[in-house]
Amino acid sequence: MATTAEDVSEKQINGKEHTSEGEAHVNGTAKAEVKQAEEVATKSEVESKKEEEKKEEKPEEKKEEKRNTKGRHGGVNEKTILSSVRLMEYILNTSVYPREHEQLKELREETAKHPWNLMLSPADEGRFLQVLLKLMNAKNTMEIGVYTGYSLLATALAIPDDGKIIAMDINRDCLNVGWPSIEKAGVAHKIDFREGPAMDTLDLLLKDEKNHNHYDFIFVDADKNNYVNYHPKLMQLVRVGGLIAYDNTLWNGTVAYSDEEIADLPKYVRHFKPFLVELNNVLAADKRIDPALVSIGDGVTLCRRVE
Ligand SMILES: C[S@@+](CC[C@H](N)C(=O)[O-])C[C@H]1O[C@@H](n2cnc3c(N)ncnc32)[C@H](O)[C@@H]1O
Repeated sequence: MATTAEDVSEKQINGKEHTSEGEAHVNGTAKAEVKQAEEVATKSEVESKKEEEKKEEKPEEKKEEKRNTKGRHGGVNEKTILSSVRLMEYILNTSVYPREHEQLKELREETAKHPWNLMLSPADEGRFLQVLLKLMNAKNTMEIGVYTGYSLLATALAIPDDGKIIAMDINRDCLNVGWPSIEKAGVAHKIDFREGPAMDTLDLLLKDEKNHNHYDFIFVDADKNNYVNYHPKLMQLVRVGGLIAYDNTLWNGTVAYSDEEIADLPKYVRHFKPFLVELNNVLAADKRIDPALVSIGDGVTLCRRVE
């Protein structure tokens, strides 16, 4: 550990105070020593800064600092903001795939054949949500953005037999891919699918007082440009102590980068980035929630309603 001027001055003065020598010594010699120590500390700070600057100039160090685009939104079963594909495989093979429900695996493999498979929720995120749901004893849940139903089935498997999920999507066709697996898993009775824009369904639900402060868990994985508009409505529907989970909040790892730095990424990624940045700012400032941005999958922000 580096010694700072403050550390040294503490020691010097305290040391002198315990000698028989008087104040003059403390105020004279010790002060000179302190000054010397400060100079030494300043010098070493300057030197370490110079060393850091030198390190930054090395091309291989710069490479590490650059935004890593490999493996992010990379393709089916590859959605992760982790920069190491091998580490991602390790996580999946060690703690996800061996415990993945048979029908979840089947649904994931069926979805892999679908042309829009990039939208599939990653399996490690599915597992994470399942553990959360069980921890919370969640029963009344909601999902915005179903696609073929991977996160929907994960949720249905994690809640009790009399649990419910209001599942919303503008399109029912994709869910047909996963529906046979959902039925086979014996959890179809927990799902109340509502086709159409989620905003309309939320407004309808809000008309009925009994839906207010009612939901234990809400997973949002749909039109990113509307997350900030969903938030005030979801805050009325989720119960105090319940959780809203917003998916894709690290958005391909782009939220921390300027537009120039992400110019090489696909148009849809660049288009939606400002919406996720805005959402992250809104959530960070919202005192009614207790938020945690978890770097799993493409980033999931957990928002526990506190008031
Ligand atoms: C990323 S996918 C959902 C993935 C899904 N959660 C899973 O586990 O695989 C996004 C879905 O949101 C749906 N969507 C887009 N806009 C929507 C809207 N306004 N209302 C409801 N669903 C919408 C799309 O049709 C698509 O199926």
